[in-house]
Amino acid sequence: MTTIRITSPSHSTDHEISIGRGTLPAAGAWARKCVGSGAQRALIVSNSTVYELYGSEVATSLASAGFGVSSFLMKDGERNKTLRTAESALAAFSDAGLTRTDVVIALGGGVVGDLGGFAAAIYLRGLRLLQVPTSLLAMIDSSVGGKTGVNTAFGKNLTGAFHQPSGVLIDANVLATLPARETTAGLCEMVKHGALAGRGLLDQTVAFLSSLEIDRFASSGIVELIAENVRYKASIVAGDERESSNRRDQRSRKILNFGHTLAHALEKVTNYRYFRHGEAVGYGILFAADLSKSLALCPEKDVNLLNDVVHRAGILPSLAGIDADEVLAAFDLDKKVIAGNLQMVLLKGIGEPVIVTDIPQATLRTTLQQFFMSRG
Ligand SMILES: NC(=O)c1ccc[n+]([C@@H]2O[C@H](COP(=O)([O-])OP(=O)(O)OC[C@H]3O[C@@H](n4cnc5c(N)ncnc54)[C@H](O)[C@@H]3O)[C@@H](O)[C@H]2O)c1
Ligand SMILES: [Zn+2]
Repeated sequence: MTTIRITSPSHSTDHEISIGRGTLPAAGAWARKCVGSGAQRALIVSNSTVYELYGSEVATSLASAGFGVSSFLMKDGERNKTLRTAESALAAFSDAGLTRTDVVIALGGGVVGDLGGFAAAIYLRGLRLLQVPTSLLAMIDSSVGGKTGVNTAFGKNLTGAFHQPSGVLIDANVLATLPARETTAGLCEMVKHGALAGRGLLDQTVAFLSSLEIDRFASSGIVELIAENVRYKASIVAGDERESSNRRDQRSRKILNFGHTLAHALEKVTNYRYFRHGEAVGYGILFAADLSKSLALCPEKDVNLLNDVVHRAGILPSLAGIDADEVLAAFDLDKKVIAGNLQMVLLKGIGEPVIVTDIPQATLRTTLQQFFMSRG
C-alpha cells in the first residue's frame, strides 16, 4: 500500500490517500482509522452500477468495523449530477439519522464523488467525507483537491463547495471492470498531468500505456502511476487550494485546466451526451498543443509527442458532424473567462505550462478550423 499525506497550511483538512490492490475488503478498518471511534453511522453514496460490483464488500467491511451502514444510490451518469439528486441524497442522510459525527462514503466515479461530496459538504453544514474512487479519472483527479459540486441549467460544475475528505481509499483492482471508454477518459487526464508535470511523469505514462496493451491493469506499474498522478495534483492544490483568480503562474491551480477549454466547449455543444469528459480532454490537449505551436510557443517535437501519447490512450469519438464555429462560440461561456478575456493554459513545452490571455481571435479560429478539418 502506498500512502500519500495531504496537508494544508492550517492542517485542519490533512488526510491520507491510500493506494493499493485489494484494499476494499479492509475499507471498514480504514474508515474507522480515518474518522475515529465517535462515528456511529456510515452512509454510502454510490450508483447501482458500482454498488452491484463493490457495494456489499464495502458495506460488510464497514459493518464489521462497527458502523451502522446505509446507502443512497443515485442514477448513473453525468446528467444526474444535479441539485435535485443532491436534495434526494440529503433526504437519505436525514432518513438515516446522520449526525455531525457520522460519515458519508462516496463509492464510485467522479460523478458520485462530486455529488456525494457536495451533499456531505452542505448537510448540517458539513459532514465528514471519505472518498473511495472507482474510475481511473476519479482516482487520479476528482478525488484529489476537495472540489465538489453539481451541474445546473446555467453551467457545469458551477455550483459546489470545497470539502476535503477525511481520507481517500484507492483499490486498483476495481479497474478490471471499468469500461474501455472510461479507461481512455482516465488515461487522457493522466496525459494532462504528464504534459504539465514534465518528462518524468509523461514517460512513466507512456511506459504504462505500452504494458496496458498487453495485460490491461494487471501491470504492477498502475499503483505507482496513480500515486505519481495524485502526488502531482496534490502538489499543485497545496500551493493554491482555492484557485486564486489573480494567479497566473506555472504552479497555480488554474493550470490543471489544461485541455479543458476545448473539452468543455465540445461537451457543451454535444449536450454532455456524446463524449466522456476525459475523451473531450483528450481532444482539448491536442488542440491546446496545436494552438501553442500556432503561437510559436511550443516546439513541434513536443506537440508530436503529445499526439502520440493521446493516440495510445485510446480511440476518441469522431469530431465529424460537430461545427467548429459553434464550438468557438461555446468557448466564451467557459468559466475560465475572467473580465472578458479567454484565459487558456498552453505549453511552452512538456512540463512548461503557461496561462495566456491575449490569444488573437483569428489565430484561435484558424487553428480550430484546421484542427477540425484534420480530425473531422
Ligand atoms: N472534483 C474535481 O476536482 C473533478 C475533477 C475532474 C472531474 N470531475 C468530475 O468527475 C466526473 C467524471 O468522472 P468519471 O469519469 O469517473 O465519470 P463517472 O462517475 O460517470 O464514471 C464513469 C462510468 O464508469 C462507471 N464506473 C465507475 N467505476 C467503475 C468500475 N470500477 N467498474 C465499472 N464501472 C465503473 C460509472 O458508473 C459510470 O458509468 C465529471 O462530473 C467531472 O466534472 C471532478
Ligand atoms: Zn477534467
